[in-house]
Amino acid sequence: MTDAHYGEGTDVLHQALDVDSYLQTVLMPADAAMGAVLEANRAAGLPAIDVSPLQGKLLMLLAKAVRARSVLEVGTLGAYSTNWLARALPADGHIITLEADPRHAEVAWDNIRRAGAAGLVEIKVGPAADTLPGLASSEWAPFDLVFIDADKVSNAAYFDWAVKLSRPGSLIIVDNVVRQGKVTDSSSTDPAVIGCRQLLDALSTDDRVDATAWQSVGAKGWDGMVIAVVR
Ligand code: SAH
Ligand code: DHB
Ligand code: MG
Repeated sequence: MTDAHYGEGTDVLHQALDVDSYLQTVLMPADAAMGAVLEANRAAGLPAIDVSPLQGKLLMLLAKAVRARSVLEVGTLGAYSTNWLARALPADGHIITLEADPRHAEVAWDNIRRAGAAGLVEIKVGPAADTLPGLASSEWAPFDLVFIDADKVSNAAYFDWAVKLSRPGSLIIVDNVVRQGKVTDSSSTDPAVIGCRQLLDALSTDDRVDATAWQSVGAKGWDGMVIAVVR
């Protein structure tokens, strides 16, 4: 990723990028299927805001660790994160992923098919605010893991749905809550920063979950995820 997209290029962030490459080389063998997803996204002109390879593998490992069988994702883009989550699932598992942009959903579906995950994944096209309510009656609810990674202004609303669609022990993960450090700026007018702060404020008094947040540096610059377990 370019500094233009992820903020000021400090020495630490540049070093972190090298460390990410190193860790990827050491811990992740060449992965043609995942590489093809990113290449297809690039060819289709999708924004390169997928989770990083190491983060994708982290999502897979977390899903495996909780033995997730049903997963809900909010924000599909080209299904890079979706494909990582799909790798964690048993043969009778299922992912429902929500995407507002029909063009993103088309690219995503091609990527899901090519990766051999079509039998595990369902994309619901439309604004998540419209598709989430219907999931209450889904045969796949309650979900074992929810990954929230869509429009950041709606983070608090999506988190609320995630809890409603979960069970005690379910894992809820929210991407991009640090925003290159801007999350501490209480006077920010950046809608994404405001959305992340609203979520964190809500979490400070949300007794339905135990939550933490995990800062990260690397291919996505300076960022972080909220990790919560439903009580
Ligand atoms: N999870 C993906 C990246 C998602 S990027 C990955 O890591 O590979 C965020 C996506 O959310 C974009 O594709 C965008 O179109 C979608 N999105 C934005 N607003 C949305 C909304 N209101 N409902 C559903 N999806 C939305
Ligand atoms: C943006 C969105 C993401 O989901 C992400 O991982 C990184 C950046 C963005 O909207 O800028
Ligand atoms: Mg993201």
